[in-house]
Amino acid sequence: MEDKFLIQGGTSLTGDIQISGSKNASLPILAATLLTPDRCLIYGVPRLADIRIMIQMLSGLGAQISMQGHQVAVQARELQITEELNQHARKMRASFLLMGPLLARHGKACLALPGGCAIGKRPVDLHLKGLAALGAKITIEKGYVRATARRLTGSDIYLEFPSVGATENLMMAATGARGTTTLLNAAAEPEIVDLACFLKKLGAKITGAGTRVVKIEGSRSLHGAAHTVIPDRIEAGTYMVAAVATGGRVRLLKVIPAHLRSVIAKLRKTGAEIEKGRDELLVAATCKSTPLQIRTSPYPGFPTDLQPQFAALLTTVTGTSRIVETVFEERFLYTEELRRMGASIEVSGPKALIRGVERLYPAQVKVPDLRAGAALVIAALKAWGETEINCVHHLDRGYEGIEEKLRGLGARIRRVTEQAANL
Ligand code: UD1
Repeated sequence: MEDKFLIQGGTSLTGDIQISGSKNASLPILAATLLTPDRCLIYGVPRLADIRIMIQMLSGLGAQISMQGHQVAVQARELQITEELNQHARKMRASFLLMGPLLARHGKACLALPGGCAIGKRPVDLHLKGLAALGAKITIEKGYVRATARRLTGSDIYLEFPSVGATENLMMAATGARGTTTLLNAAAEPEIVDLACFLKKLGAKITGAGTRVVKIEGSRSLHGAAHTVIPDRIEAGTYMVAAVATGGRVRLLKVIPAHLRSVIAKLRKTGAEIEKGRDELLVAATCKSTPLQIRTSPYPGFPTDLQPQFAALLTTVTGTSRIVETVFEERFLYTEELRRMGASIEVSGPKALIRGVERLYPAQVKVPDLRAGAALVIAALKAWGETEINCVHHLDRGYEGIEEKLRGLGARIRRVTEQAANL
């Protein structure tokens, strides 16, 4: 069975929309619940395919886990490592976030090298170098990473690149290590700050989260805690772009505007009007539209996870826009699909040149990865006529109730489930 979306473009999105809890904050926080044998309660967890995979993996490791609405209760009294774990690990890159907590609590881990979106090589060398610096013995064999450590020992670790996943894995591992760990050139994304906040509630001592230098003092006695995850800034940014792209006016509820500063700056530059409230944002398109120069970079830079959605918006902005992608090597796969819809985009290595066309046309397109899927939805909302978007399971990994939320704003979108032909 493969679902597709049929989208009748041409309506301006208007109304209020509630933003879900952050997928990318929930995943490491769920992994971190393994650090304590006590019960943890996590609120605001979005109901998404990637979250289901993490829950299955935690359950496979012996944790008692249940999800009711957006609340997840986890208790990992004892851990066991089974083969089943790795059937899930290959489906999602974030599965590798279990490495740090497993090593810290259990002293050993064996995880399949991760899969995930096809947007580049995405190795885990920075995670492994950091874990080795903490004293873990690591071998890679037949696609599996085996790591053991009787007791990790704190160390200074310099990351060649401020990798989000490596920073999270090393923070979790260091939490259970003997002594102090200092991460230099750490990632500073809001999801890192949220993980640190949860770890501190468990009893960890962490300073500097949200800056390039994070200090963690190891501790063996972590206890249970309750935590509400931050709102999903990438989901919020996606609906902000969709509002502007369709000439609409949308109020986003339950957001943290400070997490979206670079996005707000770019949308204002292209002509949108944005009003900030304490935990809401009002986004309105205007008649003005100016091409943009965008360069993705680690937070607080412009997020790579919103690069495809902005490209979709810029396809019909008069003039030439330029995008430089510096975080992932292969994040322009979607441009071929946008070209099918009439967009004029030239890609050369990490650069894309977008020449604004008058309008986009409906077509049959295929989602190559999660955020590219969001870009195709935005393009379809703009196109005149009905666009068919295939392989929408990628969108289900990261956007909770996307069609209901879009319909709530007036979009004409339908999900069609196709039965396999010879069943
Ligand atoms: C996280 C996010 C993802 C986002 C990305 C960058 C989650 C679950 N996913 O992914 O949505 O797009 O941050 O903001 O939070 N790299 C290495 N070696 C490593 C690790 C990373 O070379 O060991 C490279 C990657 O190939 C990539 C770059 O560093 O080119 C950024 O990766 P990283 O920050 O680790 O992203 P993820 O944590 O995988």
